[in-house]
Amino acid sequence: MKILRPRWKRVIPIVVAAVVIGTLVTLVLLSRLPAAYSMAEMGYADYGGGSVPAGGQHGTHGHTHDGISVATLTTDPNRPADVRVDLTVRQERVTLADGRTVDGYSVNGRTPGPLIEAKVGDLVEVHLTNANVADGATLHWHGVNVPNAEDGVAGVTQDAVDPGESYTYRFVANRTGSYWYHSHQQSDPQVLGGLLGPLVIQPREGIREDADVAAVVHTYGGARTINGHAGEVRQSVPPGRTVRVRVTNTDNAPVPVWVSGAAYRLVAVDGTEVNDPAEVTGKAVSVTAGGRADLAVALPADGTAVRVQLPNSSLVLGEGAAPTAGAPADYLDLLTYGTPTGPLPAAAAADRTFDYVIGRRYGLYDGRPGSWWTINGGLFPDVPMFMVEEGDRVVMRIRNDSGDVHPIHLHGHHVTVLSRNGQPSTGSPWIVDSLNVAHGESYDVAFVADNPGIWMDHCHNLKHAREGLMTHLAYAGYGTPYVVGGPRNNHPE
Ligand code: C2O
Ligand code: CU
Repeated sequence: MKILRPRWKRVIPIVVAAVVIGTLVTLVLLSRLPAAYSMAEMGYADYGGGSVPAGGQHGTHGHTHDGISVATLTTDPNRPADVRVDLTVRQERVTLADGRTVDGYSVNGRTPGPLIEAKVGDLVEVHLTNANVADGATLHWHGVNVPNAEDGVAGVTQDAVDPGESYTYRFVANRTGSYWYHSHQQSDPQVLGGLLGPLVIQPREGIREDADVAAVVHTYGGARTINGHAGEVRQSVPPGRTVRVRVTNTDNAPVPVWVSGAAYRLVAVDGTEVNDPAEVTGKAVSVTAGGRADLAVALPADGTAVRVQLPNSSLVLGEGAAPTAGAPADYLDLLTYGTPTGPLPAAAAADRTFDYVIGRRYGLYDGRPGSWWTINGGLFPDVPMFMVEEGDRVVMRIRNDSGDVHPIHLHGHHVTVLSRNGQPSTGSPWIVDSLNVAHGESYDVAFVADNPGIWMDHCHNLKHAREGLMTHLAYAGYGTPYVVGGPRNNHPE
């Protein structure tokens, strides 16, 4: 015979379940990102142990329009352009240089997009037209320290450019070197799909090498390519000549590059010339995601070709047969390569010192439970806003305890590596805009806050940025009129 429990006892499990479900729903809803928000108000202000600027506080809501608008931080509108380029972006099935077709994005009908070339000091003016990219698009000048309004970050420095719309970027090519451009609206799918291209800023007097080759590395449909060619691509160069190969890694992971058939020198990293680069043999260079490595190679006089190799693809320089070799086990260490040009900035003299500690933990991000990246223990948007004032000498202590590699990219500035895992840099000044931080590593880097605005400081594994591994460097007293989300549907990540 069935014994019925009293009625009140039967409802206990129902009440408990309701409380648990109610709590979970509340947590999920609380973690949802607002439909529109200002990046300038995300997270909490971190002053890095420096002074709190009067009137430049951060963290009180409702001041989106406060301060000087980043939209005013443009290039002199009266200065005429020296280099003018029209770029039209499309979402379409694109034919790669190797004949394959992929669903993605094109710039002037191709991907990678056309090479933009300028001489240092030139004013570059790029007229972007979005033909049909439904989510909108922008152009970010990766590695170029442009004025903030020209930085191309949807929701921070501009609105996404919708289909049928245009936008003009103007910036002075203020340092020589290898750079690239890519969309910073929905950057994860759009960069993956090929909305990108190379940008090279030449010295006035020209480069030292005889030939100059841009080598954009990108994976399309699972195959790694160089300038859109999977497998082998050849560049004909006469015997005995020297070649500068500008390896630009537009993928989400670091890529090893090595040379078979000749020694090479690593002559520039992220647009900065290496001081006194020695000849290298039997070692690979690891090119950070988003980073660039310029390799100088001298072709043998006997007509044999030289092969610049990556896993599963290579660039053959010259006309003859090219040797091929497996990937070297050793990597060139930029902490000791080249020779110093003088003392490095003293960490102790910094006006502000920030921690950028990357971790990972279970939690809710935008309403979704999972294991997410953290910065200084918090999940986006509960991350630090690194606050500076113009002229500050800044040290950032980046540490990665997250179990994965993170290529950290600071917009608008270049940072000098002071030390890795406590070991000081003793080679050429190692100056980067994209820094590969492996699990367990720590880097102290220094820079001078000399470019006002609000700058993304994020992981260039763009999937990780989309998963919340992003924050900003903000100059006190500046605000943005743009919002993430909102009617323009701005989504920089
Ligand atoms: Cu190459 Cu925030 O970008
Ligand atoms: Cu990452």
